Amino acid sequence: MPDMPSMPAAIDRAVDLLRAGGLVALPTETVYGLAADASNEVAVRRVFAVKGRPASHPVIVHVAGAAALDEWARDVPDAARRLTAAFWPGPLTLVLPRSERALDVVTGGQDTVALRAPDHPVALAVLRAFGGGLAAPSANRFGHVSPTTAEHVRADLGADVDLVLDGGPCAIGVESTIVDLASDPAAPVILRTGAIGADDVARVLGVPVRVAAAGTDAGGVRAPGMLDAHYAPRAGVELVSADEAGPRAAALAGAPERRVVLVAPPDVAAPALGPGQRIDAPVDPAAFAQRLYAMLREADARGAEVALVVPPPESGLGVAVRDRLRRAAGGRG
Ligand code: TXA
Ligand code: MG
Repeated sequence: MPDMPSMPAAIDRAVDLLRAGGLVALPTETVYGLAADASNEVAVRRVFAVKGRPASHPVIVHVAGAAALDEWARDVPDAARRLTAAFWPGPLTLVLPRSERALDVVTGGQDTVALRAPDHPVALAVLRAFGGGLAAPSANRFGHVSPTTAEHVRADLGADVDLVLDGGPCAIGVESTIVDLASDPAAPVILRTGAIGADDVARVLGVPVRVAAAGTDAGGVRAPGMLDAHYAPRAGVELVSADEAGPRAAALAGAPERRVVLVAPPDVAAPALGPGQRIDAPVDPAAFAQRLYAMLREADARGAEVALVVPPPESGLGVAVRDRLRRAAGGRG
């Protein structure tokens, strides 16, 4: 955490701003969030306005821990207690039947609420001092890639946010796993993949866990943020295997000439490209996830029309990385 000496003062300032209906960007272990008091309808509306996000899209309520489950949700199933005991604070969001406390503006008018306790010292310090719940979508403009540094937040939202708390680069780098326990607690469904895999959830619950197909609704629960056009940089994203990368790069860089950037491990051959057209990606899926959005932003910064990406293996965080990349690629149509 940079600026250790001033961080307690910054946290006090964040809490004051949040109590006054302000917007604070804060670090979590997944991506940076744009936080507002979840009980303040006007403040939450401002979050939507600043992001340019349609009002029908529900936002996650961030809480300090499992003690808040029964404040925001009703009929909390045993499965939720077991998952929070195993994974909170952490990159797991639970969709549960909502309590009276969850405002329509937060739930998108649905009868469910999404809850998560983030595992980051700054986010937790703010949540504990604030006391209530914080509605916090990712701190990017609607449809853009999520921010994983304070600098990304400033570049996206600039003066529209009252305070940006800098907690350094996010450790995980892709958004939390979302598990729907509202439709049928005995048959949990993963609405969005993340650092906690279906196998991790299945192990704790002792039941099979289904992953909802990309871009579809699951069990009547809407997760509108799962639109395919999400997570896309300006550049068109194309997924290629390590073997295809070189020939495809050569074809794109030829006639008609396209500005290509290759995001791939350094040992992937692409003789047609200069060093300025390569972004070295880690081989390890977790390391790739941690750098995913920064690398897509870097491709944009280099003026890429096409970002050719060699994804990591589809294991561990590779599942979520490939999911986000497929959405980014598919959303370009
Ligand atoms: O890692 C994360 O989850 C980050 C950090 C900041 O916590 N937050 C995040 O928020 O990714 P956002 O708003 O960008 O994505 C939230 C997702 C959306 O796809 C939304 O549709 C879904 O959660 N969601 C929220 N409430 C829901 C609900 N009641 N039912 C189903 N999906 C819900
Ligand atoms: Mg988002």
